[in-house]
Amino acid sequence: MNDSANFAGYQADDIEFLGIVFGPVGSYEFRFAVTASVERNEYVQVHHGAYGWLLGRVDEVRLETDLTSEGAKKVAMGESVAFSEEEIAQATIVGYADGKGGIASPKQPVAAGSRVYRATDETISSVLGLSSEANGARIGTLHGRALPVQMDIEAMVQKHISIVAKTGGGKSYLAGVLMEEMLKHSVTTLVLDPHGEYGSLRYAEGGSGQKSAFATEVIEFATDVEVNAQAQPLRFTCSNFSASELLSLTSMAENKGALSALTVCLGRVKEKGQDYVIQDIITEMEEDDNPLLSQLRKELGAISAMNIFSEHGTRTDQIANPGKTTIINFKGATPEVQGLFARRLLTALFEQRKRGKIPPLLVVLEEAHNFCPQQGKTESSRIIRTIAAEGRKFGLWILVITQRAAKVDKNVLSQCNTQFILKLTNVNDIKAVASSVEGMTAEMLQEIPRLQTGVAIAIGGGLPVPLLVDVRKRLTRHGGESVGTSWRK
Ligand SMILES: Nc1ncnc2c1ncn2[C@@H]1O[C@H](COP(=O)(O)OP(=O)(O)O)[C@@H](O)[C@H]1O
Ligand SMILES: [Mg+2]
Repeated sequence: MNDSANFAGYQADDIEFLGIVFGPVGSYEFRFAVTASVERNEYVQVHHGAYGWLLGRVDEVRLETDLTSEGAKKVAMGESVAFSEEEIAQATIVGYADGKGGIASPKQPVAAGSRVYRATDETISSVLGLSSEANGARIGTLHGRALPVQMDIEAMVQKHISIVAKTGGGKSYLAGVLMEEMLKHSVTTLVLDPHGEYGSLRYAEGGSGQKSAFATEVIEFATDVEVNAQAQPLRFTCSNFSASELLSLTSMAENKGALSALTVCLGRVKEKGQDYVIQDIITEMEEDDNPLLSQLRKELGAISAMNIFSEHGTRTDQIANPGKTTIINFKGATPEVQGLFARRLLTALFEQRKRGKIPPLLVVLEEAHNFCPQQGKTESSRIIRTIAAEGRKFGLWILVITQRAAKVDKNVLSQCNTQFILKLTNVNDIKAVASSVEGMTAEMLQEIPRLQTGVAIAIGGGLPVPLLVDVRKRLTRHGGESVGTSWRK
């Protein structure tokens, strides 16, 4: 190895040489003439007299040729035309290890003529500060490398978390990976699960049907235990619901006449006693000959048959289990039922959390655009916005998962400081990500539609810079396979 570190020709013999820096050079970027195979997103290193090894990342590889359009036409006619070509890579400087475990940016450019090498795992780890501490959340490996990427759980739950990708981009899979890490680290978690995808955390990866290491730490409740026989029933106390809330579960939610008729009926039921069930309201309605009520009776009858209301509701301390993951499986429930019960649950949990009655809690919101849409309102919109704004102070965090970043309440999305962005193609969704994510560079935005399934841009959560990560394999079974293709017989 050449030990005169102060001149551009610094040479390292034991690492792969890729090319030579040329042309105008900035303190953030440089170009190099490529002499070996190099790809976009690859990490490179170049030596700087003042800072030692600088880590860079290839943004683009271009082939410059002097083949003219005239020449191209001749080629098309079968003539042989001589032309030269030159491969050029454009790289951004990530930084150098500051010697204190951090990352620093050079203030001077690298010298033209410097030799560029494929970055070694050692250089990458030391500059990016990729640690393998036991208290980290192991989410995967650096894209294209075997280097483990860990995130800091403490930093992740300082604020909220989001996962954004188009359908099939790998959101639920990654959410499952994060939930495994939460289970490993005994973070109390509650999942609002519209498709019943997360009960599979109880089973080991693969189709053997074997229980996973977390089987006893995962508790599942469902609104419909006929469809979801493995779950315990989730129950709400009917007498806690107002006439307008009950009406919101029906097709007559906006009908003022139905509301006043139901309010009168409910008043009569309440006079008879506090512990009533939904059937008592239906029976009371039969006394009335208001034609509006016969339709409503039918709909409330259907709700009564779902068995979600009962005299004694499920308690919040049954739902926030210290160190465990509790799933609220809404499969089979209407969007109205999901919205109202999500609101009820989240409101109760927030109040209990403020009083310290339940442990600090991470709430996972699958299909968040349905629970807190940007346009229009659902029953759960307001409480989710409140938790996004204030929950952190009280140890209540949310993990927002959505395929439509543009359709999620921006006030919620912008509160997420740890973000995972997987493949997105919709222009509005990419714009929504660009405006809600701090430190999003133009290069990263360009990368988003090109990401492969299972590759995520991870931002925050203790990482010094955004990283491209190959999400690790699940330890438990992924339950989301069939969602979205159910029409295919
Ligand atoms: N990190 C990964 N490793 C391996 N396979 C993955 C990974 N991420 C996603 N997949 C595959 O891609 C499919 C779609 O992922 P999924 O998380 O269900 O998508 P989404 O929830 O975004 O619609 C999964 O069924 C799984 O087979
Ligand atoms: Mg999914």
